[in-house]
Amino acid sequence: MPPDAQPPIHRPRRLRQSAGIRELVRETSLEPRDFILPLFVSERVAERRAIASMPGVSQLPLGEVAREAAAAAAAGVRAVLLFGIPLEKDEHASQAHAESGIVQRAVRAIKAEVPELTVITDVCLCEYMSHGHCGIVEGGRVLNDESLDLLARTALSHAQAGADIVAPSDMMDGRVAAIRAALEAAGHRDTIIMSYAAKFASALYGPFRDAAESAPAFGDRRTYQMDAANAREALREVALDVAESADIILIKPALTCLDLVWRVKERFQLPTAVYCVSGEYAMLEAAAAQGWIDRRAAVLEWMLSCKRAGADLIVTYWAREIAGWLRE
Ligand code: PBG
Ligand code: ZN
Repeated sequence: MPPDAQPPIHRPRRLRQSAGIRELVRETSLEPRDFILPLFVSERVAERRAIASMPGVSQLPLGEVAREAAAAAAAGVRAVLLFGIPLEKDEHASQAHAESGIVQRAVRAIKAEVPELTVITDVCLCEYMSHGHCGIVEGGRVLNDESLDLLARTALSHAQAGADIVAPSDMMDGRVAAIRAALEAAGHRDTIIMSYAAKFASALYGPFRDAAESAPAFGDRRTYQMDAANAREALREVALDVAESADIILIKPALTCLDLVWRVKERFQLPTAVYCVSGEYAMLEAAAAQGWIDRRAAVLEWMLSCKRAGADLIVTYWAREIAGWLRE
């Protein structure tokens, strides 16, 4: 530098001076196609039933689910994620894989009405088990290998009903491989597996368990869902699911796991999804209902943060509403 030269003057605010400039340099954005809407379909209700801890979310009877899906599609949502609540629960989750099960019928109804909508099914046993655990229970323990066949049969029955994507959320070891083997053996080579690869035992699932009527009758899920303290273990879990042929990786909850979203995306380079869970929804809704935060601005900031962390897809109960906002 010549002796009389001035050091360059750094003014990051140059890039924030107007809406137009800010838009020009914006790194991430939200689009309707980023969002996946969960739907709860129940055999136990004749009319839609609101869930108190999740304002704006309802359990739907079978007769309403296709209409709800069509409304989401009309708003721009490209995919829904189905959860089923069966009339009868037992100790071997027989309704989870029944051809006439609630999810299987809901998939058919949606595919008949809105064929272009991607249908994802949550594959788990907790909603179908009388004890509410995600696998077979014996002597107070949740058995791993013994649960795999049930999970594989459940996923296959969803694919046979027409599901595009199956999403195992049970956290049993080896279930992606078991599901893939069952799908391939039955000729369902194109069924996509979106694996809840890193799913933490979280205090933020409470409202969901009201919605899905799936709270465990005893104990908790800490012997299968992950410890919130562990990030390296989450990377190992994801590596296993990738090796077992998962197509899309899901991380859950969202806001408490953004460090992992970043690391998983960088390391594995697969489509990466986050699940903004019921407790996250309930927290923000509660604060907004009090008038303590700007609801819409907070929701959009929350979603943008997920994308900035690397999420390609976001499962959220706000999906339809967000898609509507983005189209305004
Ligand atoms: C069931 C399942 C849960 C969620 C998705 N699938 C709850 C649980 O593990 O108890 C939570 C979703 C939410 O809180 O929104 N395996
Ligand atoms: Zn479960």
